[in-house]
Amino acid sequence: MAPARVYLDNAATSWPKPEAVYRAVDDYQRRLGAPAGRSSYAEAAQTERIVAACRQKVARLIAAADPKRIVFTLNGSDSLNMALHGLLQPGDHVVTSVCEHNSVLRPLRFLAEHRGVATAYVPCDAAGIVDPDEVRRAITRQTKLVAILHASNVTGSIQPIAEIGQIAKQHGASLLVDAAQSLGYLPIDVNELGCDLLAAPGHKGLLGPLGTGVLYLSPGIEQRLLPLRQGGTGTRSDEDVQPSSLPDRYESGNLNVPGIVGLEAGVTHLLDAGIDRCREHQSQLTARLLDGLAGLPAVTLYGSRNLAERVGVVSLNVAGYDPRELASLLDAQWSIQTRAGIHCAPRMHQALGTVPAGTLRLSIGHFTTEAEIDAAIAALSEL
Ligand SMILES: Cc1ncc(COP(=O)(O)O)c(C=O)c1O
Repeated sequence: MAPARVYLDNAATSWPKPEAVYRAVDDYQRRLGAPAGRSSYAEAAQTERIVAACRQKVARLIAAADPKRIVFTLNGSDSLNMALHGLLQPGDHVVTSVCEHNSVLRPLRFLAEHRGVATAYVPCDAAGIVDPDEVRRAITRQTKLVAILHASNVTGSIQPIAEIGQIAKQHGASLLVDAAQSLGYLPIDVNELGCDLLAAPGHKGLLGPLGTGVLYLSPGIEQRLLPLRQGGTGTRSDEDVQPSSLPDRYESGNLNVPGIVGLEAGVTHLLDAGIDRCREHQSQLTARLLDGLAGLPAVTLYGSRNLAERVGVVSLNVAGYDPRELASLLDAQWSIQTRAGIHCAPRMHQALGTVPAGTLRLSIGHFTTEAEIDAAIAALSEL
C-alpha cells in the first residue's frame, strides 16, 4: 500500500479543507446554482445570503467594522494587483521590501516600465525581518504607498507591520499589507496594523477553494483606488457607469460563488476553532519541526528561531543536495509533499544567499499532525 500523503505545501494552498467546505461547494452546485446579487427567486436569495455571510465573517476575522469593505477577488495576486494598479499613478513612489512575493514585485516592475512609478526596496536582516527604520529612511516626499508582506512565504518571518504602519501614516503614505501567509494563521486586526489595504488569498489559511481571494479597503481609500474592471454588478443596471458603492465598485461580473460558499465554510471553521488555537497549533508544530531539524548537522535552516516572530513556513537546505532533488526524493520515497526553488520571491533568496537553487520549503497547515512532522524529520535524517 502506498504511504499516506503527507502534505506540507500549505503555503501554496491549504489541503485538506474542512469537510464543511466540500459539502458547501457540493450543496451549492447541486441545489442552489444561482448567481449572487442579481435575481430574486429563493435559490438566488439564499446564495446572496451565503455570500453576505462570508463577507461578514471575513470582516469579523480581521476586525473590519463594515463587511462592505471586503471585496472578493480571484486570489492573493488579484487582490494585490487591484491595490497596486488601482492606487499608483505616474510619478508616485513606493517603498517595499526585498522579502516580497512576485505578486507585488511584478506589478511594481510593470508600473515602473509603463507608468513611471518608482520603487525603493528596503533590505531585511539574516532572519528575513525588515527594520522599520529602513522604511522610514526610504520614504520620500513622493511616497504614496508602503507595500509590505505580513509573513514571508520563504522564511516564515513576521514583519513589524504595526510599526511600519505608523511610519507610513506619519509620512502621509498608505499601507498595503500582503497577508497571504498570515490571514487564518495569525490574529489580525486591521485597525491595530494601521493598514489601508489588506490583500490575501481565500485558499490558504482561510481554507477556501482555489480561485478565492479578498481585499480589505479601509474607510475613504475607495476615493483614491480606481477599479481595474468595469461591468455588471446587479445594481443600478439602468446606468452605464460603474457604481461607486461598495463592494460593487470593485466587483464586476458574476462572482466565483462556488468558491465563495466554500470560503464561507472555511472561515466559519476558523471562527469556531478560534484563531488563537490555530496559531497555537501551528506554533507547536513549527517548534517540533525546527527542533527536530536543528539536530541534523547537514541542515541549514532559514528564518527566525523565535516562534513569536514566525509562522509555520520553514525553508532549509541540506548539504550536498539540490532542493529540487530533495523534494523529489521526499515525494518518491515517503510521499512527503514539499516545494523547492525560489518560491516566487527572487529578491528574498538574493538576500538569503540561496540563489540560484533556492530552498526546500515545508509549510504547516491547520490539519498537519505531529506524526506528519515526525515523518518529515525522520525522512530528512535518513537522507
Ligand atoms: C507572500 C505571498 N503573496 C502573494 C501570494 C499570491 O497568492 P495567490 O497564489 O493566491 O495569487 C502568495 C502565494 O504563494 C504568497 O505566498
